[in-house]
Amino acid sequence: MKYTYLLFSIFLLTAVFVHAQNQPGRQVSNFDKNWLFNLGDVTNAQLAGFNDAGWRKLNLPHDWSIEGKFSKDNPAKPEGGALPGGIGWYRKAFVVPDANKRKLTYIEFDGVYQKSDVWVNGHHLGFRPNGYISFRYELTPYLKYGGQKNVIAVKVDNSTQPNSRWYSGSGIYRHVRLVTVNKIAVDQWGTFVTTNTVSEDSAKVSVKTTIRNKGGKTGEYKLITGLYDMAGKAVGGRVVNQLLIKDSLTIANQDLLVLKPKLWSVTKPALYQVVSKIISGNVVLDTYTTTIGIRDFHFDVDKGFILNGESVKIKGVCLHHDLGCLGAALNVHALARQLKILKEMGCNGIRTSHNPPSPELLNLADSMGFIVMDEAFDCWEKAKEKYDYHLFFKQWHKRDLEDQVLRDRNHPSVMIWSIGNEIPEQSDSSGFRIAKDLAAIVHNLDSTRPVTAANNHPDTKNQIIKSGAIDLVGYNYHHNDLVGFHERYPDKKFIGTETTSALETRGIYDMPSDSIRRWSDEDKQPMNPDFTVSAYDNVSTPWGSTHEETWKIIKKYDFLSGMFIWTGFDYLGEPTPYTWPARSSYFGIIDLAGFPKDVYYMYQSEWTNKPVLHLFPHWNWEPGKTVDVWAYYNNADEVELYLNEKSLGIKKKQADDLHVMWRVKYEPGTLRAVSRKNGVVVLSTEVKTAGSPAVIQLSADKSMLKAGDADLAFITAKVLDKDGNLVPLAKNKITFKVTGDAFIAGVDNGDPTSHEPFKANYRYAFNGLALAVIQAGETSGTVMVSAKAEGLPAAEIKLVVK
Ligand code: GAL
Repeated sequence: MKYTYLLFSIFLLTAVFVHAQNQPGRQVSNFDKNWLFNLGDVTNAQLAGFNDAGWRKLNLPHDWSIEGKFSKDNPAKPEGGALPGGIGWYRKAFVVPDANKRKLTYIEFDGVYQKSDVWVNGHHLGFRPNGYISFRYELTPYLKYGGQKNVIAVKVDNSTQPNSRWYSGSGIYRHVRLVTVNKIAVDQWGTFVTTNTVSEDSAKVSVKTTIRNKGGKTGEYKLITGLYDMAGKAVGGRVVNQLLIKDSLTIANQDLLVLKPKLWSVTKPALYQVVSKIISGNVVLDTYTTTIGIRDFHFDVDKGFILNGESVKIKGVCLHHDLGCLGAALNVHALARQLKILKEMGCNGIRTSHNPPSPELLNLADSMGFIVMDEAFDCWEKAKEKYDYHLFFKQWHKRDLEDQVLRDRNHPSVMIWSIGNEIPEQSDSSGFRIAKDLAAIVHNLDSTRPVTAANNHPDTKNQIIKSGAIDLVGYNYHHNDLVGFHERYPDKKFIGTETTSALETRGIYDMPSDSIRRWSDEDKQPMNPDFTVSAYDNVSTPWGSTHEETWKIIKKYDFLSGMFIWTGFDYLGEPTPYTWPARSSYFGIIDLAGFPKDVYYMYQSEWTNKPVLHLFPHWNWEPGKTVDVWAYYNNADEVELYLNEKSLGIKKKQADDLHVMWRVKYEPGTLRAVSRKNGVVVLSTEVKTAGSPAVIQLSADKSMLKAGDADLAFITAKVLDKDGNLVPLAKNKITFKVTGDAFIAGVDNGDPTSHEPFKANYRYAFNGLALAVIQAGETSGTVMVSAKAEGLPAAEIKLVVK
């Protein structure tokens, strides 16, 4: 191998990479559109000539479960979201140009839930049981070229249930692509880029490129690897002038030096692109782009998590993959909205509980600045549910885990691998063996990141911890044991893999608020007869804590590197306590519709510098009732509360308090809070007694949408009184109407007990709020969204699609 060092040879780099955007040598086409779908099993649907006339036409990503009806009798059970599963078939006809005859064509799936079988023109390509893993099949030997029709058929089997402890969704719920490359090309997930000896002055970027030769001529080729900043400016590059490409796989290692790198951090997530080109003479055989970030991090026994030389507390949340009323069907705009809401709270971490995420989640985490704990499994060989992944673990875990690591290991956001959540084998000798096996699989492919496991029994008998295989001791819960962590594990590094599990229903307030309630099978009291749970942060599971309890501890000790709160958003399924008619969780800091619960502002007051003064509850009570009034605040020394302009006193957070409280005898009117620092007013906020519903107010998270991109606007409908106050318990039925090229992709209100359909044009408001998700169509133009409710004037909002 002869290397020519090209650093700063900007001319050559630009000359070579001017085509980089066009990806010469490689065609990647979106394969989401125009599929045919049939719910239910059919015989012979894999055959090319099968008559699929009459099947429903749709675009992917698609989740058929979310279109179904809630029933406690659905085999998924309320824990799985109480929606139907079953078997579904997808088919798609397509043509491949003659020009691709000499090339290789692959179909790539980002995730199919679950047990998928794929055929092309009647040839079985493979079976993949894991519903969260990305996979591809080669189509080349079976394709017909020119104008001839090819047919892909996919059978998805989610009929064996229960197979999940949360809502899984069903179908081809993530993106699908066709990828066409030359016979010599960068392999699938064929680059591994690591950043070493990182400082503000320089960084070494090491690029390992795996090239697959499938029928191409062996011989000498050129491999050029360039590094670009996000403005597209070349900042480094290397070339291997005579790379001997053999049959099958060839590996090339190149180091690039970057001066004055822009480091990736959670506040400034700078990204770079590595562009790899394989060249034969003057022909570019392949162009392959890898997005990376340059950063240095490690976990320290005493100091916790260190990023680029600085201590950073991981303030993370666990997320399941569903997108509320959109179900599991991936939509990057819905995901981006979730992450934006979390970022505004000050959150800097995400745990992909308990499975590999969509590639889009990691792309967003890279560009928005989140630390990701990328998790593989919720079970190993032992079952949690009768039909879950334990049935496939022995045969598939190596392949699945390797594919996850290969796919995700270039993302700068990914900083921790988790090999499992609350694995039953923790207390069994097989846990020792399997933990070692899994950690070795990960470390073999990536030695730059620590491996952890999320342990709910993190005692010294724990076989996973005992095995020594995990680099970080992951604790689920046990908040009272955290301070003593080093007495138990003197030289080990800590991560709070899962914490909290507090329960709240947005907008519900039970008095008194100052005693902590642990829900348990014996004491169901914290759950009200109407299946609501008070939103003062004082109810939790018996194994968990309130939000304040855990954060107070994590915040105090440096060695507690951080935590992932259960959960950022409410999710479908797991309505702990398992009380039908509830069908979704109460754990979220934010409800299923994306409306923050009050505790969101506790975190915002702690985790951001943005001035916060959040006052609750609402101010509509029975006269004379004793009501607890809470305020979360920051950047101030004190808060004074006024009821109808009469002061109810000044409160200051004492010691490690995270809120202040007044016990107030209710009288209607205006409750006003004023925060002050050194006597100067910082913020003032008020809550007024609302009258009866008079107006619907519509607001959109964004009003400019992109055509042809499944772009979404989240429209909040608020029920207000005639003076503009939110009517706190309003439950008016709101009917939405869309004109223009757009449609209602889903509706919600955040009520975990509602059995109204998510795919509908109406929603009853829940505690004053409802949501309509509007999806832009293919064409540009104006879209009008209107909302009406009986007895109230219609409201309207305009969206512009470009
Ligand atoms: C944990 C588990 C999570 C979720 C949570 C609810 O034990 O890891 O998946 O079930 O409890 O509190």
